[in-house]
Amino acid sequence: MSNPSILILPGDGIGPEVMTQVTRIIDWYGNKRDLKFDVSTDLVGGAAYDAHGVPLHDDTMAKAMNVDAVLLGAVGSPKYDDLDFSVKPERGLLRLRKEMDLFSNLRPAQCFDALADFSSLKKELVAGLDIMIVRELTSGVYFGEPRGIFNEGNERVGINTQRYTESEIERVARSAFELAMVRSKKLCSMEKANVMESGILWREVVTRVHADYPEVELSHMYADNGAMQLVRAPKQFDVIVTDNLFGDILSDCAAMLTGSLGMLPSASLGAPMDNGRPRAMYEPVHGSAPDITGQAKANPIACILSFAMALRYSFNEGAEATRLETAIEAVLAEGVRTADLLGEEGVTPVTTSGMGDAILAALDASL
Ligand code: NAD
Ligand code: IPM
Ligand code: MN
Repeated sequence: MSNPSILILPGDGIGPEVMTQVTRIIDWYGNKRDLKFDVSTDLVGGAAYDAHGVPLHDDTMAKAMNVDAVLLGAVGSPKYDDLDFSVKPERGLLRLRKEMDLFSNLRPAQCFDALADFSSLKKELVAGLDIMIVRELTSGVYFGEPRGIFNEGNERVGINTQRYTESEIERVARSAFELAMVRSKKLCSMEKANVMESGILWREVVTRVHADYPEVELSHMYADNGAMQLVRAPKQFDVIVTDNLFGDILSDCAAMLTGSLGMLPSASLGAPMDNGRPRAMYEPVHGSAPDITGQAKANPIACILSFAMALRYSFNEGAEATRLETAIEAVLAEGVRTADLLGEEGVTPVTTSGMGDAILAALDASL
């Protein structure tokens, strides 16, 4: 049988820098655990635009549809600010999500003990935090029609449309209930049913799906209150399910609870493929970080943890995923820090590859 296949799309800015560390980890699994992958690499975002004039070539899209998992670094750069909207780097990422139909985006926010002091919140509020935001990823205001900038009388109007069908809400709700069942059986759904019809429908459908998961304790919260509650008392939550835009914002907010945006991984999952694996793309929550690009400062942990999620959700290697997560925890406990995690006196930051070295050493030590 052939090895499972991975398409790596490093992208722009710090994307290639953090992805280099992930490829070292993938090689480690091949050499030390006999867990081999067929890895190919291609362009996305500004890098693809520079080569092909589009942020995602059709051939790359076709490759993404034919692998077991895609790993993506990050896209975007101020360099492309003046490009036409249709070819901006971010469109490449959105096309991948839409055409792969990756409707369920899992964004875990976990506070490692060693980093509890780095949160912008008091240590006792975040110590032990382990929540999972399930963000709907293929619909809502990101994709709804009509959209565009139009002339209206003697001025222009910018339009985006929040749109959700019942089936779109139902499938992401189901994935959140399934997750809640294997976690602490607690789910909070966030929308704004007080002002948006799409929110009313969201609440209705989630409530209906709840009938199939009676063991799960379901609550509903307006998303603005949810944002406040996330910083007031984040440990009240376990699984949160929400729409595309609220999920984008709430997950960045949750990131800071854990100490740094450079720590947060994500898995974007779709329906099962013919081989039974879910169609899947794994990417850090952070972006291309133009302010630190090329300085060897980027924290590769979010991207490496995204690969750990691939081991768990695409390759059925939960124990190896835990090995990798435990190695990262050990490295943090030893005090190894990239520059985004500084704060303690007398700590010299390691570079991006220095963090990779430390994680590889911890993996070796785990054997
Ligand atoms: P960003 O996430 O790139 O950066 C926000 C801040 O966090 C910056 O100060 C950055 O230095 C820091 N940061 C982010 N990741 C880090 C890491 N791994 N290690 C250390 N520090 C890190 O968000 P932004 O500045 O709003 O956006 C920059 C570009 O990235 C934009 O073009 C945006 O569209 C794009 N973006 C892409 C993705 C993605 O590819 N999934 C996600 C978010 C933003
Ligand atoms: C994210 C990013 C993307 C989003 C952008 C880059 C398209 O912010 O993955 O969180 O808005 O979804
Ligand atoms: Mn975002």
